[in-house]
Amino acid sequence: MSLKTIHPFPARMAPEIALRRLESLSKGAVVLDPMMGSGTTLKIAGMVGCKGIGFDVDPMALLISGVWNRRVDTNKVLSLADRVHEQVREMQDMPELPWMDNEPETAKFVRFWFAKDQADDLRRLSSLIYPLSEPESDVLRVALSRLIVTKGRGASLGRDISHSRPHKVTEENDFQVFPEFERSVYQVCRILNANPGTGLASVREGNAKRMDSIADQSIDYIMTSPPYFTAVDYFRGHRLALVWLGYSLPALRLLRDKSIGLDRVPDKALDDVLIQELHRKVKHIPDLKPKVRSVLQRYSVDLFEISQEFFRVLKAGGRMTVVLADSYSSGLLISNTQIFKNAARLVGFQFGEVEERPILATKRYLPPPSDSRGNSLANRMKTEAIMTFVRK
Ligand SMILES: C[S@@+](CC[C@H](N)C(=O)[O-])C[C@H]1O[C@@H](n2cnc3c(N)ncnc32)[C@H](O)[C@@H]1O
Repeated sequence: MSLKTIHPFPARMAPEIALRRLESLSKGAVVLDPMMGSGTTLKIAGMVGCKGIGFDVDPMALLISGVWNRRVDTNKVLSLADRVHEQVREMQDMPELPWMDNEPETAKFVRFWFAKDQADDLRRLSSLIYPLSEPESDVLRVALSRLIVTKGRGASLGRDISHSRPHKVTEENDFQVFPEFERSVYQVCRILNANPGTGLASVREGNAKRMDSIADQSIDYIMTSPPYFTAVDYFRGHRLALVWLGYSLPALRLLRDKSIGLDRVPDKALDDVLIQELHRKVKHIPDLKPKVRSVLQRYSVDLFEISQEFFRVLKAGGRMTVVLADSYSSGLLISNTQIFKNAARLVGFQFGEVEERPILATKRYLPPPSDSRGNSLANRMKTEAIMTFVRK
């Protein structure tokens, strides 16, 4: 099944995984993706007549999922874009962007990743788009971000930004921001017209560990793909665009702190007995360096805590599908899937079935080319597991 997306996103879920499982649900059933990313689960849920609820901590995920899943009047988008173009042409002075100009780390970051001409033009566009509050203005934000979050050449001096592995390749850039922005707006509108959002989804900022706005046992189906152990830092690439959408680096760091799967040691004392249970049947743990073992412990407890929350919100008898792949750390294969199975069992889920699928080479998560793990990972992360559990 092909489903054209409005913006790249790393490690997107294959839409057919969601379609095959959600199409048998009754209309109006409530489907939750607590870590929605670009919103594939919500999109498919809407297409089969289900209500969707999605959470994420990454503002880029919220932006993309929001636009992709809501009803958008693309004529209004195009007239808004025309207005922005007119204003940009009339602009005399260089506008200020307070979150960037008053925050030295963000200003330095922008000077590193953008050449002057593109930075000036992005500044002009950003100053006009940032204050807009019409629902259609989010489409302009997506269109702007697409100029930056690309695999190849774009408005920045980097490459591979869409895979969250940005690396600077040049000091010069002749990318034309305004005409490319115009084209980008048209492209997003075309994709939205071909497969419009249903408006059946609610997209919320929040941590999958604590979805306070969701009542106990109110969800019919959970479908999600959590981050793998230390495989991807979603913010690394997305911040190149988010600094043009009102975010300073310190503000983004606070949001990133809530992400799971990052290379971080625990920030609280962990329960040894729980860790032992979570690591049952998981190989290679004694061979890991102490710091990596500690990072893995944090990740495992994070998987346990999200599982607890998933159990709380799912209806008795409801199903949960989790797409996850095992990942390599220092050359050792860590079974993220076994850790998740252990976590789910501990909180009360019953394991249903598993389907293994090859991960396309283009969809794999890889560290930047400068990182020596890159090539070995490319050869190794080849399958993902689609695990379904039942809430007793
Ligand atoms: C593998 S991606 C999901 C991709 C998604 N299925 C799609 O099709 O685009 C994992 C997502 O989990 C999000 N995430 C990480 N930690 C989170 C947390 N504590 N709460 C909510 N979302 C989180 C990341 O920001 C990322 O968007």
